[in-house]
Amino acid sequence: MGTLKDLTKVIEQAQRQVANTRSAEFTVLEEVDPMRGQSVRGADAGGTVDNKIYYGDNIRLLKSLAEKEEYRGRLKLIYIDPPFFSEARYDAVIRVSGSNIRHPAYDDKWQQGLYGYLRQLTARLILMRELLAEDGLIWLHLDWHVVHYARIIMDEIFGEKNFVNEIIWTYKSGGSSRRRFARKHDNILVYSKTKHYNFNVLKEKSYNRQFKPYRFRGVKEYRDEQGWYTMVNMKDVWQIDMVGRTSAERTGYATQKPEQLLERIVECCTEPGDLCADFFCGSGTLPAVAARMGRSFIACDRGRLAVESTIGRLCAQGTGFRVYAEEPEHRAEGGRQSRFEAEVHMSMEEFPGSDKSLVTIRLGNVLERRLPTGMEEKSRTVIRKAVRNSPLELIEAWSVDFDYDGRVHRPSAVFVRNKKELNDVCRQIVGPDCRRICVKIVDVMGNVFYVDRPCTQIRSESR
Ligand SMILES: C[S@@+](CC[C@H](N)C(=O)[O-])C[C@H]1O[C@@H](n2cnc3c(N)ncnc32)[C@H](O)[C@@H]1O
Repeated sequence: MGTLKDLTKVIEQAQRQVANTRSAEFTVLEEVDPMRGQSVRGADAGGTVDNKIYYGDNIRLLKSLAEKEEYRGRLKLIYIDPPFFSEARYDAVIRVSGSNIRHPAYDDKWQQGLYGYLRQLTARLILMRELLAEDGLIWLHLDWHVVHYARIIMDEIFGEKNFVNEIIWTYKSGGSSRRRFARKHDNILVYSKTKHYNFNVLKEKSYNRQFKPYRFRGVKEYRDEQGWYTMVNMKDVWQIDMVGRTSAERTGYATQKPEQLLERIVECCTEPGDLCADFFCGSGTLPAVAARMGRSFIACDRGRLAVESTIGRLCAQGTGFRVYAEEPEHRAEGGRQSRFEAEVHMSMEEFPGSDKSLVTIRLGNVLERRLPTGMEEKSRTVIRKAVRNSPLELIEAWSVDFDYDGRVHRPSAVFVRNKKELNDVCRQIVGPDCRRICVKIVDVMGNVFYVDRPCTQIRSESR
């Protein structure tokens, strides 16, 4: 691979793949509405359940959205940060009992090599063009591995006249070698669909030579601790630090991108209320930022850990959303097929002379039954030890639906680990119409366990 002839084939085959892809029906698994109950920190960042997170492969989602009038040409911003063809496996690094455990997050290995990689990316980009608004922008985040091929493919799909920018995101970490210059940047290709795209110019500081004032007539100058500067239109080279090990925004998910990077992207091409999408959302940086900035979002990932990281992150900032899946896989994982089980104690105390009761839910022990095959022995040992000594450390988040309809989990209480802290008791007053209670528990590896019980059973066991 590497010839222009092969690129032509890539595009033709991707078009065929798009034509042959069946659209999918998605069902709602979960609906988190911060207005329904207490959000974890009491924050309210985009309290709308119109935000959507899809669990599954994005190609079928893209095809279904592209067939719906309400989505065709409606996305003002598409940002994607797909695997880069690095041929590596990425781990999430999670802290349990004072030790780091490594858990497989996603693979960037391609059986059909570069050709197969480019074909699947191209098919998705073709569908994304259908979804992009006439005044929208698409941002394709890659690095040196394939950005040169992607540029040609983007020219083909979006038109070379619609090339807007190649953003160079430069950072300090990684990339060093004794055999070449250190590779310390990613490339973000920006394309529009038409020449009428929305763009808000952002400004940045430009320091004067020797940090001294120029005193040009009509030029406003400012001064900070470094010296004198003017404000100029932002350049296409962005120096933003990667998410550091101790950074507050760090989720532990591999290749998580900094919020500052996404804030710039969202700010320069969307307005509050606009719809943004990230079809390779990982730990949910774009949805988290978009919601905080008053935009709504569609997010998708095929990794369970990615989707659960996104859910936890959005809950922690008080954002509302619905979670969809093609197959109710999350639900299937509850009960016997789950990778883990957790004890959940539920009790109900009736108030004399009232039809209301106090429900208390307490998390008990955790039993991790199946660990991922790719997990190294050191991490397995840490988890087995935690199961024995401090099982709650294996729980990342949990939530309770006090009015479960047997289908969609609609929690009114959500708890997400905040550094080392996780609340393990939940109390709520319920009325006589409370029929069933459902508890969803997520472990640090993104595995989900559901337990639900009828209130009649809880009531009789509590007497
Ligand atoms: C580089 S990561 C995204 C990181 C993200 N920008 C963040 O800030 O956390 C790429 C993601 O794409 C997901 N992915 C890869 N192929 C996919 C596909 N076909 N459908 C949906 N998600 C996919 C992977 O599971 C992974 O989470």
